[in-house]
Amino acid sequence: MAHAELDRLQACLNFALDKLRKELDNSQLPPLSQLSSVEHPLDDPTTYLPSTGLFEARRLSLACLGELKNLIQSPLDKCMDERFTAYGVACTDTLIKTGIIDYLSDVPNPSQGVPAAELASKFELDSQKLVPILRCCAANGWVRETRDSSFALNRCSRTFIEGHAGRRLNFFMPGFVTMIETIPYWVAESEWKLSRSPEQTAFQIAFKTPLLAFSWIMENPEVLIPIANHLKSVAGDMSTPSIVADYPWEQLETPVIVDCGGGEGGLVSAILDAHPSFRAIVQDMENVVALTSSIMEERRPRDIENGVLKVEAHDLFQPQAWIGNEYSFILRHIMHDWPDKEAATILGHVARALGPKSKILIIDMVAVPNVNATATTSFESFLLDSDAKRLDCTIPSHFGSASKIVSGSSMHMLTMINGCERSLREWEALVRACGLRIMNVYPLRAHTSIIECALDTRALL
Ligand SMILES: C[S@@+](CC[C@H](N)C(=O)[O-])C[C@H]1O[C@@H](n2cnc3c(N)ncnc32)[C@H](O)[C@@H]1O
Repeated sequence: MAHAELDRLQACLNFALDKLRKELDNSQLPPLSQLSSVEHPLDDPTTYLPSTGLFEARRLSLACLGELKNLIQSPLDKCMDERFTAYGVACTDTLIKTGIIDYLSDVPNPSQGVPAAELASKFELDSQKLVPILRCCAANGWVRETRDSSFALNRCSRTFIEGHAGRRLNFFMPGFVTMIETIPYWVAESEWKLSRSPEQTAFQIAFKTPLLAFSWIMENPEVLIPIANHLKSVAGDMSTPSIVADYPWEQLETPVIVDCGGGEGGLVSAILDAHPSFRAIVQDMENVVALTSSIMEERRPRDIENGVLKVEAHDLFQPQAWIGNEYSFILRHIMHDWPDKEAATILGHVARALGPKSKILIIDMVAVPNVNATATTSFESFLLDSDAKRLDCTIPSHFGSASKIVSGSSMHMLTMINGCERSLREWEALVRACGLRIMNVYPLRAHTSIIECALDTRALL
């Protein structure tokens, strides 16, 4: 009997895995292993930029696996799976909070595993609680149960070790779960259900505050640093290598790059390292630039001294001070933070500063509608391969469940501030309303893209 969908997904998965294997070999990377307790270069996007083929093969493999799971799993199991996701997060948080992760990484033979009883006595915990927690982590691929009730770190959980990238991502913000529980009430019943204001969201309801999320965070120092670290990892470090490598910086005609809402300045730092002929300005809110200045004075003292790099306070909602052909502007992970009205105000201020040679680089996710289609445009590199041309694979256009990070991020922006991840059609409308035009969209080896905009001179004709 023909099983059309199953057959197509199976063929697509085989193709994607073959491609993945070939690309790993071409890149001279070691085999991927869940039994290994050593990190793989592919595990950290902040330090290793995969080839385009490898990036696409991994994404397509994950998309096929997700679609296969959707096809095969019973709806009731899927429902339970989804409900229980929150426990997985709590379990990894527990391993970090108790110190178990760091302990498991420091034992003399980390791959051998440590009995839960030993962990319990070391950290004065109850082994009856620890075993289910560690087994939940094992089911999610974070640790390995090496013998009954003995556990070892695997290569993935190394990301949670102190100083590693996943540790910064995995912080716990009190009130976060309450905010998520508030979403159905906010959307369906609350007096703000039709409001698009950034000050009338599930965030204000759950945190019982009239403050904008950014202002509340500033007033609560205990969450400020973990959130700043989290943003740096999510918003920044993961996409920086690809932004530097995949945008044609040498074609930018302006000598100065202004990073608006540039946070700690990591992006301009990486751009200056790769393209020392540019000068750069990092702008952010007053209390953020105090931190940025001290970081930059320590890391790039000569650039600060020579005026190659400047750090300054600037409110995104005020007119831009740097005007004309000398300047291009970056807005990375800024626009998704704001609803359309506020986003247009921010973009409008930058647009009014542009000269004919200036560009605005909006670096954000492009939320492709997940309609049923072959994901041809996104795996163009595969299309060079004759096998791929013949491949009849109906993966949704944004890689189905492999786009969960985009849809999750969009939900987070919505819940916190009535923002969202925009589709290309929504980006076009926003950009056009500010007298700009999209010149190009550069896909990145990351979840974000670079939307390159310039003044729409056609409007003047
Ligand atoms: C999601 S973070 C992105 C940071 C940076 N662009 C990056 O990609 O690493 C948003 C940034 O916008 C800044 N921001 C928020 N409201 C602002 C305002 N009114 N004026 C200037 N910066 C603002 C925040 O301080 C924060 O650094």
